[in-house]
Amino acid sequence: MPPFFFEDSMSDLAMIVSSARSEFEGCADAAALENAKARYLGKTGALTELLKGLGRLSAAERPAAGAAINVAKKELEAALNARRAAIAEANLTQQLAADALDVSLPGRGRGMGTLHPLSRTLERVETLFHSLGFAVADGPEIEDDFHNFTALNTPENHPARSMQDTFYVEGGMVLRTHTSPIQVRYMETHAPPIKIIAPGRVYRVDSDATHSPMFHQVEGLWIDRDVSFADLKATIGEFLRRFFERDDLQVRFRPSFFPFTEPSAEIDMAFGDGGWLEIAGSGQVHPNVLRAVGIDPEQYQGFAFGVGPDRLAMLRYGVNDLRLFYENDLRFLRQFA
Ligand code: FA5
Ligand code: MG
Repeated sequence: MPPFFFEDSMSDLAMIVSSARSEFEGCADAAALENAKARYLGKTGALTELLKGLGRLSAAERPAAGAAINVAKKELEAALNARRAAIAEANLTQQLAADALDVSLPGRGRGMGTLHPLSRTLERVETLFHSLGFAVADGPEIEDDFHNFTALNTPENHPARSMQDTFYVEGGMVLRTHTSPIQVRYMETHAPPIKIIAPGRVYRVDSDATHSPMFHQVEGLWIDRDVSFADLKATIGEFLRRFFERDDLQVRFRPSFFPFTEPSAEIDMAFGDGGWLEIAGSGQVHPNVLRAVGIDPEQYQGFAFGVGPDRLAMLRYGVNDLRLFYENDLRFLRQFA
């Protein structure tokens, strides 16, 4: 280090202060500023070196030199803080400009979800049957052969099994082909009087404008001491009038066959130009079904039905292809919102 002379160091001090000021001013960001600070005020910074040199001054010179260096140090710290504040301010301004919101842009709105038309239909069916005194029961979609067929008076090799094209799964189980097994499950665990509906998904190897491989049914079962076929007709008629909100419905009971009902009827409604669309199967519960669950058919009787709510939705909304409900094209579904 060169010999330390007080006069020299005082002019050094002035130079250091002015070059530090201009360097601080020239710093564009906080990192550059901290580097510049280190060059002047750091452990080996220019000002710090001057302070260290004080020891070599005479006792007479030392106080004035020390005071001058301290003044310079204060000046640099003030300049540094001013520059720090200016950089922070500039950053904030820049960030605000980048994040600027155009408050005149149209709002994005909120995507409100709605119920699928088939869910809506199922809710409606449940509400209406509830008002007619029916409770709601439930059962598994993967069903055993016994509940789906055998207990419903449809033993193995019975030709009626081929009425429904079944999806078989492992372990002798099936995807239930109808909601009728819930009748059996309910009667296994409840004694008459019984008055229930059982809505749910069912599966068949089926696909065309009025058939989907996965669809819905709502089972109905009313067992008491004297529930007759007339009660079936009255109940279905009342339900349909409430569902479609009109009294002039064209409904027909067409004689049919199910192993688990006797007599049996399929229920059709007018559809299209003079055509009919089947909406349900129904009938008086077969005595063999009652016996299989331990109910005495001499004491109790009643009716059952299995209605297709998907078909009811077709009729109510005027949709001519049931598969549209399952494609989940929002342009189609939004019409029902
Ligand atoms: C049955 O499934 C009987 N379990 C109904 C029943 C219950 C009869 C209780 C007697 C006593 P069926 O196969 O006809 O019957 O089906 C009943 C209804 O389900 C049909 O009328 C129709 O509305 C609906 N359906 C049947 N197959 C399909 C399908 N692939 N897609 C949409 N709906 C269907
Ligand atoms: Mg049928």
